[in-house]
Amino acid sequence: MTKLSVNINKPALLRNSRGSDFPNLLKIAQDCERFGADGITVHPRPDERHIRYADIPVLRRNLKTEFNIEGYPSKDWMDLVLENKAHQATLVPDPPKALTSDSGWDTEKHFDFLVDVLTEFKNAGIRSSLFMENDFHKIDLAKKAGADRIELYTGPYAMNYIADQDKAVLDYVSAAKHAVSIGLEINAGHDLNLENLKFFSDSISELKEVSIGHALWVDAIYLGLENVIPMYKRLLV
Ligand code: PXP
Repeated sequence: MTKLSVNINKPALLRNSRGSDFPNLLKIAQDCERFGADGITVHPRPDERHIRYADIPVLRRNLKTEFNIEGYPSKDWMDLVLENKAHQATLVPDPPKALTSDSGWDTEKHFDFLVDVLTEFKNAGIRSSLFMENDFHKIDLAKKAGADRIELYTGPYAMNYIADQDKAVLDYVSAAKHAVSIGLEINAGHDLNLENLKFFSDSISELKEVSIGHALWVDAIYLGLENVIPMYKRLLV
């Protein structure tokens, strides 16, 4: 079954907007677990505009499910992930001021850098995942560089789904098959929602995990977190 990892950037943004500890992020994350999330994802950015570095040890100590830290592998971010022994490190190529992740790794251009970073995670026993587009050659190099998984960037899928869902998913299906055939596992994320998730997960049987934030928190405003997490989970069976 595909796991649902809930990205908690958005409630962190809400908390930071008032400069207090409300809502408390640990409570939010624990409630996500209680309502059925299989994991929690955080994406600490250099400006700490949502998740703060100081949030990580508290979450790591208290959460029971899989803890996934996303981010650009700067020295500070690497230290954070290694010190807190995340279950999974998802590497994104974002520049420091990026609004959100909007492209996968160019594993050819950054190959040597990625080999160094991925080796550190391997030595620490932390599973690594590279945020990627559907490019066979780049996926081959992700494997060669030492990644355990790739996270398929589903932004283009979500955008094209509206016009033609079969066409939108086609390249993802072949990229996933190719990745699995060379020994990579598959995650996916970005812009997945209650409308487009089921078709994606039904089309890609190899899918291990999706990480979802934005749409899930918008749905929670209208429907309540307690209802929304099971609604997403039901689309993944
Ligand atoms: N995967 C990665 C690498 C991301 O950066 C994000 C956004 O933080 C997500 C998944 C989740 O995307 P969304 O918030 O659109 O569900």
